[in-house]
This record gives sequence, C-alpha cells and structure tokens, in this order.
Amino acid sequence: MKARQGSRLAVLGAGKMGGILLQAFLRSRVVNPRSLSATVAHPERARLLSRHFPFPVTVDNRAAAERADVLLLCVKPQVVAAALEAISPVMNARKLLISVAASVPTRYIEERLPRGVRVVRAMPNTPATIGAGITAVCAGSSAGAADLHAARELFDTVGRTVVVDEKHMDAVTALSASGPAYIYVVLESLAEAGVKVGLPREMATLLAAQTVSGAARMVLETGSHPALLKDAVTTPAGCTIDGLMELEEGKLRVTLIKAVVKATQRASELLFS
Ligand SMILES: NC(=O)c1ccc[n+]([C@@H]2O[C@H](COP(=O)([O-])OP(=O)(O)OC[C@H]3O[C@@H](n4cnc5c(N)ncnc54)[C@H](OP(=O)(O)O)[C@@H]3O)[C@@H](O)[C@H]2O)c1
Repeated sequence: MKARQGSRLAVLGAGKMGGILLQAFLRSRVVNPRSLSATVAHPERARLLSRHFPFPVTVDNRAAAERADVLLLCVKPQVVAAALEAISPVMNARKLLISVAASVPTRYIEERLPRGVRVVRAMPNTPATIGAGITAVCAGSSAGAADLHAARELFDTVGRTVVVDEKHMDAVTALSASGPAYIYVVLESLAEAGVKVGLPREMATLLAAQTVSGAARMVLETGSHPALLKDAVTTPAGCTIDGLMELEEGKLRVTLIKAVVKATQRASELLFS
C-alpha cells in the first residue's frame, strides 16, 4: 500500500469504473488524495465531480498526464486512441499507464506512446463497488514485476487480483467482467421462482441473493470443486435432484458456457466496432 503513497495518479475517464476506483483509492488511502487527479469528456461533468471529489477533475488529459507518475486509463475502448494521442507528447519511460479498456491490447497502446512507456492492462468488475471485485492484470512489453505489483496494489483496494497472460484477457472480460450480469439474471430468476411458489418478493430476493453469495463463498473458502459441493446438497430421491434435472433439461450449463464463448468473441472485436 505504501508504495503508491508517493505516486501521483491520474484517472483518465472518471465514469462508472473510474469512479468506483477513485472512491476506493480515497477510502483505502492507497494514494494520497493530494496526489490524485481525474479527467472526463464533458466540462459540466468535470465541474460536478470537482465539487464531489477532494482533487481536481478537468477535461485536460494532457495536463493530468504530465503531472502524473501513474495513469489509469478508464475510457471506452473506442476513445482510447484519441486519449493516447492527447497524452503521448508528455509520456516517457518513467510513467506507468494502466488501462482497464476491454478489448484493447497492450501493443495497441504501446504503438501510440513513446518507446519505453510501461503499460499494464487490467480487467476489473463492478462488484469492486463494494470491495468484492476480481481484477485480472497482465504486463505489456516494457512493464516489469514492479509495475504489475503497483497495479495489483491499486486493484487490491477493490477486491482480489490475479495475474494472467494477455492472451486470456478477452476470456477474463467475458467471464468475470461480464459475469455479474449473468449472475444477476440467475438471481432474479431464482427470486421470481420464489414468488411463483408463494414467497413474498423481498424475502425471495434475500433468500436468492444470500444463497448465491453463500454458495460462492463455499467454493472460495473450502477450495472444494463445485460439483462436490453440489453433490453434498443432493440427497438421493430428495427434492434437489428434481430441480437439477429441470436445469439439465433447460440446458443451463451449456447456455452459460455459450454465453461466455460468445462474449469472449465479442470482446475481441469491441475495439474495432
Ligand atoms: N463497467 C464495467 O463493468 C467495466 C468493467 C471492466 C472494464 N471496464 C472498462 O472501463 C472503461 C470505462 O467503462 P465505464 O463503464 O466506466 O464507461 P463510462 O461510465 O461511460 O465512463 C467513461 C468515462 O470516460 C470519459 N471520457 C470519454 N472520453 C474521454 C476523453 N477523451 N478523455 C477523458 N475522459 C473521457 C467519460 O466522460 P463524461 O462523463 O464526461 O462523458 C466518462 O466519464 C471501458 O473501457 C470498459 O471496457 C468497464
């Protein structure tokens, strides 16, 4: 945590993900608030955010980049090239750029910046809002272990962090970055099912959400294979096996697998669409 305390950090693109990360950096004090700055596209949003945050928020990417040692690029993939063009003149090998943009390879970023700028690519997810996120990080060609460590320190403030090979980044995007949306559909459907069998909606939602959360924690905390945990719930000739048969007939497994496969393909195209 202390390593980032001396660094000046600029978040370029303080939208949903940039905002979640900024809030976490302030809460955890991983970065000194006086060393923070951020940018957005619209001046009126910059003014609004400047009133909300204890650091400057502007629309001037170049000035923010010039002052920073670490840049966190949180703009949409289609805006990355323009943002890099703006900051390129003030970038150098002493600066670290961490990009959370889906679908944008580190090579694409490196090609648009002076030689030697260290680039790390990261893929967080929205449970980061409550510190329950998971972020995968990978290093570009000039980034080293210290840069990955610096990135992990930042993303550790919003949950867990893993290091992956860059070739897996689109898969990570489809699984853990898009994943919360799939689970919300599962959760909403379970709650709806509770209503169908007579439970009050609020109670059904609580039962469903705590069950999803508890089941996930069992996998994480026991380290057991999900299939073994499933077997432990399934009494011979009991009711769970009847429910599982319906899930098999409804092709839940193959549907989830196909969802991740499709989203992985889409993640590889996003930049060029
Ligand atoms: N949301 C997720 O679950 C998630 C997860 C992992 C990764 N990501 C990645 O995070 C990035 C941002 O996604 P998001 O959901 O946070 O989008 P978002 O809410 O639309 O935020 C984008 C932000 O970028 C700002 N912006 C646009 N052009 C800019 C420019 N030229 N210079 C500086 N700022 C600029 C926008 O400013 P205004 O507010 O003024 O329009 C906005 O604040 C994407 O690349 C996405 O792939 C998102």
